[in-house]
Amino acid sequence: MNQLDEKDTYISLIRDMADFDYAYYVLGQSKIPDAEYDRLFTKLKAVEEKHPDWIRPDSPTQRVGSPLPEGSKFDRVEHAVPMISLESLFSVEEVEAFHTRVLKALDGEGGDPPRYVCEPKWDGVSASLIYEKGLLVRAVSRGDGAVGEEITANIRAVGGVPLRLRGDAPLLLEIRGEILMPISAFDSLNAQLIGEGEKPFANPRNATAGTLKRLDPSPVAKRGLRIFAYEMARLEGVPEPSTHQGAISALADWGFPVSPWLEVVDGPVGVESFHANMEARRGTEDFEMDGVVAKVDQKSLRDVLGSRARTPRWACALKFAPREEITRLLDIEIQVGRTGRLTPRAHLEPVNIGGVVVKHATLHNERNMRDIDVRIGDVVVVRRAGDVIPQVLGPVLERREGNEKPFCWPQTCPTCSAAVAGKGEIVFCPNVDCPAQARRRLQHFASRGALRIEGMGEKAIDLFSEKGLLSSLDTLFTLDWDAVAALDGWGVKSAESLKEQIEMAKTAEWPRFLFALGIPGIGPETARALCLSFSTLDGMRIAADAGNAEDAFTAVEGVGPEVAASLISFFREKRNLDVLKKMEAAGVKPRPIEALASGGYLEGFTFVLTGTLAKSRSAAKEEIENAGGKVTGTVSKKTSFLVAGDNPGSKLKKAQTCGVEVINEKSLSLLLRGETP
Ligand code: IVH
Repeated sequence: MNQLDEKDTYISLIRDMADFDYAYYVLGQSKIPDAEYDRLFTKLKAVEEKHPDWIRPDSPTQRVGSPLPEGSKFDRVEHAVPMISLESLFSVEEVEAFHTRVLKALDGEGGDPPRYVCEPKWDGVSASLIYEKGLLVRAVSRGDGAVGEEITANIRAVGGVPLRLRGDAPLLLEIRGEILMPISAFDSLNAQLIGEGEKPFANPRNATAGTLKRLDPSPVAKRGLRIFAYEMARLEGVPEPSTHQGAISALADWGFPVSPWLEVVDGPVGVESFHANMEARRGTEDFEMDGVVAKVDQKSLRDVLGSRARTPRWACALKFAPREEITRLLDIEIQVGRTGRLTPRAHLEPVNIGGVVVKHATLHNERNMRDIDVRIGDVVVVRRAGDVIPQVLGPVLERREGNEKPFCWPQTCPTCSAAVAGKGEIVFCPNVDCPAQARRRLQHFASRGALRIEGMGEKAIDLFSEKGLLSSLDTLFTLDWDAVAALDGWGVKSAESLKEQIEMAKTAEWPRFLFALGIPGIGPETARALCLSFSTLDGMRIAADAGNAEDAFTAVEGVGPEVAASLISFFREKRNLDVLKKMEAAGVKPRPIEALASGGYLEGFTFVLTGTLAKSRSAAKEEIENAGGKVTGTVSKKTSFLVAGDNPGSKLKKAQTCGVEVINEKSLSLLLRGETP
């Protein structure tokens, strides 16, 4: 190939690759396989090595520049147009007030009433990108809105940022956009950081900000950052679009990724409905959003409305219920579960997250605590998502003062002082007689999912145990009622009603009773399947003792060798048999399966659904009903479970006040599969 042809090939290769990028990042289409793209990239690099003087700034090889010297700082750059922010609104009433203000300010302008373009409010980091004659020449961070930092090299490495505009380029273009790390990329980045012994980021926004601060653009390129362009700040050389819709479609034509969701509405009702739609999407999208933005579409009206010091009068952000807040970690308590598992629970300075006051949050396990390096006294990020149980994501390192105390994971059980076993994700107290385990076993035994003994919740169990009235499961049936009636906060009447509940539990359905025993691996469905084959407790005990016990159990649908082993060891353990014997002596006689109605294993359980679920409400309802459960619309004391999705609202509060067990969708799936949530 002669030099001229070679150069032509070089230039068209760059154009082709820009087309592939455009198709991928803007149109969401993958035009060629990754391997082919890599092959073209290698080819391009080979040409550039041979002819370094040909290298063009829009060549994809130029996305990742060389690192800045260590210790250097990004240049400070003044924004030609200040990067102002948005007025945050939290209710539809506030949007109505905003709309009224817009109408009032436009009063007398005549002509078109305002239209609003609704877009997601991306929860990332904003940046300003400047193009001269179609080429990206500079990118600047927001900074304080007036002056930012020159982060061009890093922005070039962000997926979807056009290095050269497509089509007829204007003389000058400055755009504003949001840089985001997809949640999937964030998860793998954190997994990698943890693997390397580094601290993970608390959320994708922090990860994005941290990445853009790097002096070396090559890790930036590897972290999968993306951009959405949402405003045009300056335009020279071509006529300015007269509407925001026009501006966005021009940006898309020039090659910028723009929001896939954009809706034009004429007032607050439309904004509210877009908000509801996006909030419902929030849990399933790969990009974080924290609200929606409504912007006056007509440029002429924007000009009339103008801006205040820090926010425009022509736009507002209607926020979603927050899912994260920061607060102080006051203490860490180690809880002992019914299987002996130790879990750390954070005690927090109470903080309102999306309408619910959060005082406690999970820290998951020992490994997680080490990974996030959280210390008592830290200001921490707390997240309350559809998952209901709030979690501590990590400390805000910038707020660390130096007097925070690292937490020492106990070597002994906080309740019985037995040396703990296990490490990392599962640490447990191996002592089956541990009083804490006994309490939690009792709690499970009496819970709504099991024997449904109203009034025998965590508080009562802890109190009775402290007073020596309760220890193993059987002691529930031989309670000293005079002593109960004499307890603080109790009396003859409440003791009587609890006694009645316990009497009823003595003849609980056999599958329910089996599930209540809390044998590892035995959820409600497995319990039911087992009870169909073993019609009495005694029958099951005898089977467990027999030489072919494993075969007998694994013959039951859903029972594998592990569950069989669990059953065998439970029924061969003398202590367990003693407890069962004592129960029998106290009159406990589970109702055999023949007496059961024909319903499924969720029979007798009442569910209420709230918030946004991944599957549709009707699908969830059907599944519950197929399993024999009932679904009602209102939470009451009779409700067994509240299934809370994203943004659960008032039913969650009601459930909490009624003491109804709240579970998430994942736990519901477990229940439907017959496992313990
Ligand atoms: S427009 C003058 N549109 O929100 C109006 N901003 O609080 C400038 N943001 O700093 C902003 N998504 O980081 C606009 N669709 C969107 C946005 C958006 C996210 C961020 C942006 C800005 C902040 C304003």
